[in-house]
Amino acid sequence: MNFIRRLPALLLLGGMQLILHAADPAAPAVASTTAKDGKTIFQTVCAQCHGTAGEGKAELKTPSIASMPTWYVNTQLKNFREGRRGHDPADPQAFMMASIAKVLQPEQIKAVVEHVAALQLAVPRGKDREIADANAREGMRLFQERCMECHRYNASGEMAFGSPPLIGRQAWYLADQLKKFKSRRRGAVHGDENGAKMVQTTNYFIEDDQMLRDVVAYIITLNPDPDASKEEQERQIIEGSPFESAGR
Ligand code: HEC
Ligand code: HEC
Repeated sequence: MNFIRRLPALLLLGGMQLILHAADPAAPAVASTTAKDGKTIFQTVCAQCHGTAGEGKAELKTPSIASMPTWYVNTQLKNFREGRRGHDPADPQAFMMASIAKVLQPEQIKAVVEHVAALQLAVPRGKDREIADANAREGMRLFQERCMECHRYNASGEMAFGSPPLIGRQAWYLADQLKKFKSRRRGAVHGDENGAKMVQTTNYFIEDDQMLRDVVAYIITLNPDPDASKEEQERQIIEGSPFESAGR
């Protein structure tokens, strides 16, 4: 398992050690901690994989999680803990995240989830925005017909539907998750009602890989300018589609 061998070096800050035995008994240990405050838990455990600012790392296939709303991170950690996500060793990324989620104590989860939500949105840059052979304008059509009713016009998510923000995530991560839903590695376990919505959507409406790439390319365009100020980024997010206002 190449992916697991490439995990960052072992960090030990006391407390129990988490051994990742995903598909490889010789896999290295990942730091665990008995800390109770969100920042320490994040920097000790999560940052090794998700980056110190929660920006994610392409080489580890970890998503950016900075500023993800508490309700979504809570649901996903619960899904990982209870086997609705990451139950399949053939999906090493989710399998690994499930091992991490299972060793956290409930009060640690509460604290770290709040810390994650308070981090500033990590807008994807460079290669994290790229998706080959894609047409964002085509993707807009699919997005407006099939995605925005749940994820909102600007992909900022909607708690009432359990649908997360899609801005902030890397293009390759969005594409990978759509493939996981379509192949039922995510969202297909009995009782995962929110995941089921995506299994359905990807199977009925994303007919081929071209459509998948197009819609991801469009979602990426909804991200604000990574170099703009926080206020300007917020304004751009509210503005939404770059194709509907003339000149952009
Ligand atoms: C060993 C590496 C590793 C560590 C440590 C780790 N993660 Fe993850 N995490 C991943 C990977 C890989 C994924 C992507 C799973 C997938 O592709 O389905 C992920 C996914 C997630 C997701 C789902 C994001 C989404 O968009 O649905 C959340 C939330 C998350 N991690 C939170 C955390 C938190 C909080 C911590 C610290 C307590 C943490 N992770 C520690 C590797 C890690
Ligand atoms: C009926 C509502 C609904 C529709 C329509 C819908 N989604 Fe979702 N989507 C959700 C929900 C709910 C989740 C969270 C699933 C979970 O909890 O695991 C989600 C999750 C996702 C994720 C995973 C994000 C992450 O951080 O891991 C992606 C990517 C996504 N949707 C893209 C799309 C795209 C693209 C479309 C249109 C083709 C679409 N969705 C249509 C409700 C919807």
